[in-house]
Amino acid sequence: MTDISDKQALIDEILKLKKEKDAIILAHSYQTANIQNIADVVGDSYALSKYCTKIKEKTIVFCGVHFMAESAKILSPEKTVLLPEKDAGCPMADMVSAPELRAFKEMYPDAAVVTYINSSAAVKAESDVIVTSSNAVKVVKNMKEKQIIFCPDKNLGSFVAEKCPDKEFILWDGYCPVHNKMTKEDIMSAKEKYPFAKILIHPECPSEVCENADFIGSTKDIMEFAAASEHKEFIVGTEKGVIYPMSRDNNDKKFYLLSENLVCEDMKLTTLESLYKCLSTGEHEMDLDEEIIEKASKALNRMIDLASK
Ligand code: 13P
Ligand code: SF4
Repeated sequence: MTDISDKQALIDEILKLKKEKDAIILAHSYQTANIQNIADVVGDSYALSKYCTKIKEKTIVFCGVHFMAESAKILSPEKTVLLPEKDAGCPMADMVSAPELRAFKEMYPDAAVVTYINSSAAVKAESDVIVTSSNAVKVVKNMKEKQIIFCPDKNLGSFVAEKCPDKEFILWDGYCPVHNKMTKEDIMSAKEKYPFAKILIHPECPSEVCENADFIGSTKDIMEFAAASEHKEFIVGTEKGVIYPMSRDNNDKKFYLLSENLVCEDMKLTTLESLYKCLSTGEHEMDLDEEIIEKASKALNRMIDLASK
């Protein structure tokens, strides 16, 4: 019997079970340090999605939120995909449902539907192409369609619209509650406090925040920018989880979170205990309707195709 109050014993047990079950552990960079440390692969939504297409192990344990585990299942339907915390959702993904999107599409019959990966499998199945924050501009630029319904993130949608002035955008009114709360005032006070720091912002932030950035990019882009930069101080406008790997991997540099409360509670639900439980019981397996998988995988694979052109 494993003493799950002993952290090292728990880690050893997770690693043992992972081997026994032929599993791989993927984690988003907003997960806690404990989870990032035990994962085989840590990345942003796009990096993890692409990784899912070439996994050899039988089981994928996805330490992230529900839509991420669903995307892994869509991209690797033959695998068993487990989500350690069944209630780890994404409030932005919940801001659009498949019937709502279907009704919206009827109002704009010529528009192509570009959907952020932060959405349910059923919504993806209603979409022409999926995007992530790291490839949205490239994917949309590579599309031939001129009229775009962009859902659910209005902030990412405005960011892409600005970069694609030849297209017409109809934006869904969704947002990430964590990124959407950053303001221009937060930027001004952070700049005053750290006048030499470069400002790195996620495109889920409102445009008044993006306008003041030195660099705008996905979680992974922000991390890569800071690692390659000759600057030593950075103000980071995204979820708190990224500060841990950034500080660990760049110990000559300093990272300041743009404002203190940038925490995604859903991302923090996964613990070593829930990961252990999931591996030992096989609980919270993603089970998707075949038709949804077929339609959603077309939209997801179109993303991979357009992003690599
Ligand atoms: P990325 O991982 O693509 O940067 O997205 C951020 C996010 O909010 C994930 O939920
Ligand atoms: Fe959703 Fe925002 Fe949390 Fe990402 S950070 S999972 S977009 S609520």
